[in-house]
Parts: sequence; C-alpha cells; structure tokens
Amino acid sequence: MEAQIQQLREEALHAVESAATLQELESVRVKLFGKKGSLSLLRRELAHLPKSERPRYGALLTELQRSLEAALSRRREELRSAELQRRLQAEAVDVTLPGRRRLLGRPHPITQTLQRMLEIFHGLGYEVAEGPEIETEWYNFDALNTPAHHPARDMHDTFYLSDELLLRTHTSPVQARVMEQRKPPIRIVVPGRVYRRDSDISHSPMFHQLEGLLVDRSARFSDLKGTLAAFARQMFGEQTRVRFRPSFFPFTEPSAEVDITCVFCNGEGCRVCKQSGWLEVLGCGSVDPEVFKAVGYDPQEVRGFAFGMGVDRMAMLLFRIDDIRLFFENDMRFLTQF
Ligand code: FA5
Ligand code: MG
Repeated sequence: MEAQIQQLREEALHAVESAATLQELESVRVKLFGKKGSLSLLRRELAHLPKSERPRYGALLTELQRSLEAALSRRREELRSAELQRRLQAEAVDVTLPGRRRLLGRPHPITQTLQRMLEIFHGLGYEVAEGPEIETEWYNFDALNTPAHHPARDMHDTFYLSDELLLRTHTSPVQARVMEQRKPPIRIVVPGRVYRRDSDISHSPMFHQLEGLLVDRSARFSDLKGTLAAFARQMFGEQTRVRFRPSFFPFTEPSAEVDITCVFCNGEGCRVCKQSGWLEVLGCGSVDPEVFKAVGYDPQEVRGFAFGMGVDRMAMLLFRIDDIRLFFENDMRFLTQF
C-alpha cells in the first residue's frame, strides 16, 4: 500500500506539472479526485487492510490528497497568469505606431474664396440674395436694358434651353428680381453659378459671379470706387493696386471694368494676364435709369451702383492658380492642397 501511495503521488504530481492548459489540468483533477478517480480507488482499498493498519494509511492518503490539492491550485495559478500574459501580449496596442490617416473633406477653393468675399461684404453691410440658374430672357437681358437684337447679347455666348429659357449668363438678373420685390434702400450681394460658351485658361463654361447692388437716394460713382477699392485691399492686401477701365454694359452708365495687378508676374506681363500686367476681375457701373424703369422705380428718385465679380478669377489670384480649368477637374492631387 505504501508503494502504491508513493507511485500515485509521483504520477499525479507529474501529471499536474505537465498539464499545459486549464482544461488539461481540470481533467487531471477529475482523474484524481473524481468518483472513480485514483484517490477514491485507493481509499476503497483501506477496507481490505487489517484494522490496525487503517489509521496509518488513512492519514497517509489524507496527506497525499492535501499535497495534490496544493499542487493543483499552484499549477492552476501558474496557468492562469500565463494565459493572462499571453492575452495581454496578443491584444497589446503599440501606441508608438503611426496612426491610420483619415481623409478629411474640405471646402472647394472656389467656396473658400466666395466665403471670404461674402464676409468682406457682410462687414460693409450687404445682405445675401439669390436667384435661379435657369432664367428667362426677360430677366437675363430685357429687364437689364438689353432688348432682342441688342449687340450686347452677343457678348454673352448664351446656352439656350428653349426660345424663352436659358442658363443665366451672369448674376445681374437677380438685381431686377430683387428690385421688383423690394423698395430702396437696397444693399445686396448675389453669389451663384453662371454659364457661357467660353473656354480657355481664364474662361470656363460654368463659373461663379458675385453680384453687388446698392440703391438709395444718393449713391455715386465715387462710392462705388471706394467700395471696390476697400474690397480689393481686404481681399488681397493693402498693397493691391486696382485699375478702373471705362467700359460698357447696357445696364450701367457710366460703366467700368476693374483690373487687379497680376499676382503671377507682379504686373510685368505673363501668359495668364496675356502680357498686360493686369487681370480683369469685375464689371461695374452706376445703375442705368432704364433698369430702374423696368422694375418700376422712379429714376428721378433713386440712384444706385452695381458690380459683378468673377469669383473663379478671384480664386486664381488668391491661390495663384494659373489655369481656371484646374478648379473643375476634381483632381484630388489639386484639391487636397487647399
Ligand atoms: C458681367 O457679367 C456683368 N453682369 C457685370 C456687371 C454687373 C457689370 C453689374 C455692371 C454691373 P462680364 O461679362 O465682364 O460682366 O463678367 C464679369 C466678370 O466675370 C469678369 O470680369 C470676369 O472676372 C468673370 N468672367 C467672365 N467670363 C468668365 C468666364 N468664362 N470664366 C470665368 N470668369 C469669367
Ligand atoms: Mg468683361
């Protein structure tokens, strides 16, 4: 009996030590302590021993059971902490690894430019108005003193949708729409898309304008000049030079076109400014009395000035983009630079 106990002790301790997982350890435990486990079997053997020997072997078995239980729980702890160690290692996060880049969207450079322009005019007391991109001939031309067969209609190479409807060639029709609806004083800016059959490095068939209109009793051409010069300085910096060139629009009299020093060559002359040193950025003038008549204002009572800016041209100047078509190609290499 003593030899059996010694053998079981050795085998059992070996089995406990070599259990590699908690599951294996559990089945070792069942084999030892279960109903038909080795220890229970040995305990049954006690019955066959002479009475006098039973207490001694009983005590030996109890001692064996205690030491095996102790071995089991020590091994259980070992396996648990090894398991924990393994999980910690497997699930570890290396915070020094570079992160995954997320692509962030951002406003298109034209939108950024327009927002800046609107902020400046907001500061000058203008409010924003809007109008439709599909326009009638009346608002796009007739109400703006440009009747059928007027040569100025040719200046705008118009996309017609039908005899009556067209894609607006400028934001000026919104002038007429707003004046029809409201009484002076009026001080609005009108951002929006416009369309013309036009395409080269500074002309796009779809582009953006910002219209401005001020109407009150006394607006003068000098107020217009001051407003536009103040705008140009805030937009492009104090050193910006602005040039007013006499021009013609059917809906303003007198009229001017405004140029800004070419930022690409600092006025020396280059491909973008077509060697002139200047870039045309807007048309403007004092509102023609015929326009006031068309919207039901008394031309004796009111005066006004208006301007129409090329937003895409402003964006070219602001970001030094030398080809307007880049804005509309949706090339991510271009767009992510802004
Ligand atoms: C006009 O469209 C007038 N409605 C402006 C105006 C408004 C005058 C109010 C008087 C009173 P113009 O055709 O010159 O004018 O265009 C105005 C500006 O739009 C130009 O100075 C230029 O900056 C821009 N522009 C014109 N055509 C294009 C084009 N195809 N692509 C990009 N920008 C253009
Ligand atoms: Mg022009």
